[in-house]
Amino acid sequence: MEQINKRNELITQWVLEAGKTIKDSFEKSIQVEEKSNRNDLVTEMDKKTEEMLIKNIRQHFPDERIFAEESDNEEIKDLNGVVWIIDPIDGTLNFVKQQNDFAVMVAVYEDGIGQMAYIYNVMKDELYSAIKGQGASCNGQRIDTVQDLPLKDGLVAISSLLLSGKNEAVRQVARKSNGVRMIGSAGLETLYVSTGRLVAYIAASLAPWDIAAGKLIAEEVGLVYTQANGEKIDLLKKNPVVVATPAAHQEIIQHLTEKES
Ligand code: IPD
Ligand code: CA
Ligand code: CA
Ligand code: CA
Repeated sequence: MEQINKRNELITQWVLEAGKTIKDSFEKSIQVEEKSNRNDLVTEMDKKTEEMLIKNIRQHFPDERIFAEESDNEEIKDLNGVVWIIDPIDGTLNFVKQQNDFAVMVAVYEDGIGQMAYIYNVMKDELYSAIKGQGASCNGQRIDTVQDLPLKDGLVAISSLLLSGKNEAVRQVARKSNGVRMIGSAGLETLYVSTGRLVAYIAASLAPWDIAAGKLIAEEVGLVYTQANGEKIDLLKKNPVVVATPAAHQEIIQHLTEKES
């Protein structure tokens, strides 16, 4: 992909602008709708942010395809060529209920491989990004490769959906760790593993836009990001995921794939 620096400049500008517009929306009341159930919301700001990002991409890169959460994505049947994967607000429920712990996420993939990734923690004004093969950074400061801690030496984030089920293997992972945390934003939870605040994040069912940006950032700092059975992520469907340090990843996959007796 040509012109990485120019793209980087543009995407950075768009994502920061999106964050500012979202923050400004706190001043007024915004429309909130239910999607599949009362915990699955979409707001006026999810839609506006996505529209704004799409408009900018179409203006600068008219031939490239866009795969975005609040769009119909009818024509995305493969990831050939350049595909932008967008989650306008990751953690919409946090955005609505807490006005905190949500992120704007943009990733650029080429032939199914992550090339550029952006996760903007709006309320902390922290923009994490990664370019394939060049590592990851936060607000322009390079992030170190993660320390390869085992499960017993770190905190684990587990999606609430997994803990509400009768999943003994997940409970075992929780017990073996130092403790469990739940944030409610796949992107931020992946960033917390990427910066060493957690050793792992496990989720039951993440969509391509929940995964795309975080996966590249995580891999650029030495983490392993796979499906819960250890297989490669499929960015055309929902995946159960494990993102973790190499040591914790191995242990977690072992627990999750062991047959319960
Ligand atoms: C959700 C969040 C949440 C995860 C859900 C996602 P959204 O994204 O990342 O933490 O558990 O599976 O759908 O809908 O707020 O963009
Ligand atoms: Ca959503
Ligand atoms: Ca999301
Ligand atoms: Ca979203």
